[in-house]
Amino acid sequence: MSVQSAPGKPAAARRLTAPDIRARKGGEPIVSLTAYHAHTARLVDPHVDFMLVGDSLGMVMHGMETTVPVTVEMMILQGQAVMRGSAKALVVVDLPFGSYEGSPQQAFATASRVLKETGAGAVKLEGGRRMAETVRFLADRGVPVMGHVGLTPQAINTLGSFKALGRDEAGAAMILDDARSIADAGAFSIVLEAMSEPLAAQITREVAPPTIGIGGSSACDGQILVLEDMLGLSDRVPRFVKKFADIGPAIGAAVEAYASEVRARSFPGPEHVYAPKKG
Ligand code: KIV
Repeated sequence: MSVQSAPGKPAAARRLTAPDIRARKGGEPIVSLTAYHAHTARLVDPHVDFMLVGDSLGMVMHGMETTVPVTVEMMILQGQAVMRGSAKALVVVDLPFGSYEGSPQQAFATASRVLKETGAGAVKLEGGRRMAETVRFLADRGVPVMGHVGLTPQAINTLGSFKALGRDEAGAAMILDDARSIADAGAFSIVLEAMSEPLAAQITREVAPPTIGIGGSSACDGQILVLEDMLGLSDRVPRFVKKFADIGPAIGAAVEAYASEVRARSFPGPEHVYAPKKG
């Protein structure tokens, strides 16, 4: 199906798809960031290949301790916002904890609801070998799945803490097996979170879909960060985050200036008020 434009109007850019991302294996690095809102999606969209509506929104937006309490309804609401604020990048929506692990059928019911209600182009789920059957079930039924191995934050209650994994031989072998399993099951791309550089490099060499690193080193086929972390809006960030800006103090200064102008009655000024209509 071709995209038609109204006469005199430039054709709208086609939104990237999961197959477009899949085809980028070994090519130009894939760029991605999280986005949870229409306004941030609008700013991020021109510069990235895909945006992830990550379940990290529970912690970043809602102040939750972990991603465990995040619901499908929260993901759908923010997925819809990100779709409204973007036109070019693929939008991937996380399936939250408890909404897909029970069975492949449960995962299909949740994933199809998320795709229908948001219009996003793919879902992401956490887990390796234990989720391979589900990844295949979804992929065979028209749901593009991004995998996520290494540190999987939804497993915090069994992991005990958010720390890098696979730094010893046995742990590395398990994560390699996880990545191979979901690659073979049909994941179109795999997030590698918080693992040693040699392990990320080996996975990237060995699996067919592109790998997206977050604490996985530049050996990966692409990178992702949480937008608020790289903008300097988060209190504490993991070692793998680089702050590309520090906008927290600028927001604080703007709010302080607003507060003092309101208190001094110098805002609103004459230019901000409506004059009565003449006649
Ligand atoms: O939820 C999230 O933001 C993620 C990224 C950290 C990959 O899963």
